Amino acid sequence: MESWAGWLLLLCFHMFFFHFSFSHSLCHPHDKIVLLQFKTSLNFFDSYDYVDPKIATWENETDCCSWVGVTCHLISGRVIGLDVSCSGLYGEILPNSTFFYLSHLQSLNLAFNYIDFQLSSLFGGFVSLTRLNLSFCDFEGEIPSQISQLSKLESLDLSYNFGLRWKESSWKKFLQNTTFLKELILDGVNMTLSSMSPLNLSTSLVSLGLESTSIQRNLRSQILCLPKLEQLHLSYNSYSPNGQHLPDLSCSGASLTILDLSYNHFEGSIPASFSNLTHLTFLDLSYNIYLNGSIPSSLLTLPGLTFLDLRFNQFSDQIPNVFPQSNKFQELDLSHNNMRGELPSTLSNLQHLIHLDLSRNQLSGQITLSILNLQYLIFLDLSHNRLEGPLPNKIISLSNLTQLYFNDNLLNETIPVWCLSLPSLLELDLSDNQFTGHIRAIVSQSFEFLYLCNNKLQGNIPQSIFTLVNLRQLCLSSNNFSGFHNFNYNFPKLEVLYLSSLGLTEFPKLAGKVPMLADLDLSNNKLNGIVSKWLHEMDSLNYLNLSQNLLSTPVKKFSRNHNLKFLDLSFNLLTGDISSSICNVSSLNVLVLSHNKLVGVIPPCLANLSSLSVLDLQRNKLNGTLPSNFSMNSLLNIINLNDNQLEGILPKSLSNCTELEILNLANNQIEDKFPDWLQTLPRLTVLVLRANKLYGPVPSLKMKYGFSCLLIFDISSNNFNGSIPKSYIQNFQAMKNVISYKVGELYMQPYSSNKSVTEFATITTKSIPVTFRKIPKNFITIDLSRNKFDGEIPYVIGELHGLKALNFSHNRLSGPIPQSIGNLTNLESLDLSSNMFMSRIPTELTNLNFLEVLNLSYNQLVGEIPEGKQFNTFENNSYIGNSGLCGFPLSKNCNNTEQQSPSSPSFGQEERFEFGWEAVVIGYGCGIIFGIGLGIFVLFIGKPEWLVKMVGGGLRKKMRRR
Ligand SMILES: *[C@@H]1O[C@H](CO)[C@@H](O)[C@H](O)[C@H]1NC(C)=O
Ligand SMILES: *[C@@H]1O[C@H](CO)[C@@H](O)[C@H](O)[C@H]1NC(C)=O
Ligand SMILES: *[C@@H]1O[C@H](CO)[C@@H](O)[C@H](O)[C@H]1NC(C)=O
Ligand SMILES: *[C@@H]1O[C@H](CO)[C@@H](O)[C@H](O)[C@H]1NC(C)=O
Repeated sequence: MESWAGWLLLLCFHMFFFHFSFSHSLCHPHDKIVLLQFKTSLNFFDSYDYVDPKIATWENETDCCSWVGVTCHLISGRVIGLDVSCSGLYGEILPNSTFFYLSHLQSLNLAFNYIDFQLSSLFGGFVSLTRLNLSFCDFEGEIPSQISQLSKLESLDLSYNFGLRWKESSWKKFLQNTTFLKELILDGVNMTLSSMSPLNLSTSLVSLGLESTSIQRNLRSQILCLPKLEQLHLSYNSYSPNGQHLPDLSCSGASLTILDLSYNHFEGSIPASFSNLTHLTFLDLSYNIYLNGSIPSSLLTLPGLTFLDLRFNQFSDQIPNVFPQSNKFQELDLSHNNMRGELPSTLSNLQHLIHLDLSRNQLSGQITLSILNLQYLIFLDLSHNRLEGPLPNKIISLSNLTQLYFNDNLLNETIPVWCLSLPSLLELDLSDNQFTGHIRAIVSQSFEFLYLCNNKLQGNIPQSIFTLVNLRQLCLSSNNFSGFHNFNYNFPKLEVLYLSSLGLTEFPKLAGKVPMLADLDLSNNKLNGIVSKWLHEMDSLNYLNLSQNLLSTPVKKFSRNHNLKFLDLSFNLLTGDISSSICNVSSLNVLVLSHNKLVGVIPPCLANLSSLSVLDLQRNKLNGTLPSNFSMNSLLNIINLNDNQLEGILPKSLSNCTELEILNLANNQIEDKFPDWLQTLPRLTVLVLRANKLYGPVPSLKMKYGFSCLLIFDISSNNFNGSIPKSYIQNFQAMKNVISYKVGELYMQPYSSNKSVTEFATITTKSIPVTFRKIPKNFITIDLSRNKFDGEIPYVIGELHGLKALNFSHNRLSGPIPQSIGNLTNLESLDLSSNMFMSRIPTELTNLNFLEVLNLSYNQLVGEIPEGKQFNTFENNSYIGNSGLCGFPLSKNCNNTEQQSPSSPSFGQEERFEFGWEAVVIGYGCGIIFGIGLGIFVLFIGKPEWLVKMVGGGLRKKMRRR
């Protein structure tokens, strides 16, 4: 309700000034009484005593035709117009309300109130209505069939009453009877059940709003053939990709001026017929995600086009270099596509342009002067491309520019002076480029947002930076500045400060000066000793990253804080205990204290800290038992406690953490049976219990979907025995899928250079250690090695088609190697060594085209080693210790009985085949941790660039329409 009220306020403010109505006749006494009684029946959102100032003018003593919101007939004095929009009305209009006696109404506007009840059938009694606006009222339920009695309607707006539905029969009746309709706005009304037969739509329609109506299945492109249609809004109508192509517009009259087809999952290319729309001024095809092909030149040369939004699609090729001399473009957004080639030189013809966004493409070449002389430009985003070379040294005019984003390109040489001195510039992002040299004076005092991080800038920071009193966000991280070991400043409005990787030896002197600071990154510096005291007294802090420093003394006492959500102190030299006062930070969402030298027990209160979702204490020297009181409402998503000295049993309360995705307890001293009760956790993706003292058999699963989301299952180096748990393998549903991830989706979370990720993952697989910054989601693995499992490998193993690595080595497994392993065609690494397998090597294994590491050594395998494909690449040590094997690559020929030359393995060779699971999981978790960090960043701070585009863009359009 709060946010609804906020919305209303915002939009009402806009409407208020445009909806006064004045009239000059004397009010009809009947209508006056009716309105006065209506007034007394009203409830207002704010409070019981409150009366909206407009309605407060409705006084018995005055002529009702002079009341705000009331319009009378000039002769009869009957009330013919009522506008109580944005009046804070609240609650139901009862059927016995005198309101329904206003039978002469021709225009009724109740928009933007909070009337969350059924739309009364009595609205059908206002038969004289030509205009009815009930938008943004939160009406719910079925639209009464009586609405079809309003046969004189010219304009009906029912938009954004999210609970409203049309029934097919009443929709049809309505269309039959309303032949004068010019404007029909049904945005947000549920039309799933209505069939939109275009034959029935009034041919006088000029404006049709069907945004977010779930109408996609019923949509016929003939809608576009309505002869007088000028505005058509069809965005947000498809929630699943269904292969629909954009409608053919060849029948459309030339009358269409506004066409919004955004957010529909349309695919394919833009049909040629779009260039028939010669009166088009506004075209939005954004967020269809699947639109592709090149952008037709004919679209860019439509003479009246002022607004073109194609962002978030897959358009490719060059931007056609066809922008004509005479054009009306004000906004052009081609961002988030696959556009290539250079910036077209005719962009310089867009002399009316206010907003240009070409970010997140693959544009190359230089940023030339032509694009930088668009005098009305306010917003320019060329970020995330491959633009290179130096920026032009001089520009003629960008005097209106407030936002400039060139970040994440290959720009080099020095930052030209104009960039830092544009008179109106508020936001500048030049980060993630290759700029060098010194920063010359910053003249523009208006800066609110200045990102220069991840370049190769040198020299001293100019003093003028420290006088930018309006600055809200500053990023200087990862440059080669000199003389930067301490940092004093006075930015009263600062919210975000990134000073990572700058060689800082002292905490910046910030105490008490920055009441708003929310986001502070001082990671990867040389800060030593104690965490500065002011830091944990700063209530506004939300994100604090001090990782990768030389801090040694942990925080002794955390004071109460309800804002801090992210705290990363990993990779320091912290010693001593974790103070249980950490739980005073009641808002904590992410806590990373990993890779330190912390000792003592894990404060039990952490297990029921209600907002905590990431608890990463790995690689310390913590001892004692695991907390036993994980609470029912736990939001914990990631628990990394690996590589400590924890002992005791596994607490059953872990099964309360229903959000848990990653649990890593590797390398501790935990002594317990297998925690099969974890099968109740529906999202568990990574389970690593490696190298503990766990024992006994792994009991069969009881739940149908137990462990079905697991992608990494590592219980190696324990004392488990009994047979390999077949029911688990059957249940590992997620491992059965082979998903070909698109670029950008493959990794657990994106890596952003603004937030330094402290945990890189080293994976030793395929015998080569590889350090990952981010871990692919398809790294699917099972490791049961170094236990006492016996019996055979279940044949169903062959169903886990997604498996990348499988390790059963160092057990007591026997029987044959199942042929079904040959179905695991994604397998890159297979280790069955040091067991008692007795069979031939199945020739099916030669199907494993991606297999890079094979270890079958030390078994009792016999017969000929299969040949061909990958098998030609394995060497002796894949097979040693199986005296019955013969053939390539062994020197023992299968045709004779000559003994294989004895080759005793060195210890090193054996080691070579071990998988570094712990490392895998560090990285895996790390990806997610980082992702969550990013999420917070977006949620609570939000990069202006992002906000402007997502929120600003949307609002801009809304306002334009209304
Ligand atoms: C309005 O004024 C008239 C005459 O002054 C009076 O008779 C009537 O009761 C008043 N109505 C209300 C609702 O106060
Ligand atoms: C209207 O009906 C409600 C109950 O439905 C009743 O409480 C109220 O007194 C009635 N108002 C009038 C003016 O009759
Ligand atoms: C159509 O409008 C007329 C005139 O208002 C009305 O009498 C009639 O009942 C309406 N038809 C339907 C099906 O509602
Ligand atoms: C729309 O209405 C249908 C049928 O009543 C319902 O199944 C569907 O969930 C509704 N859609 C939305 C978005 O509310």
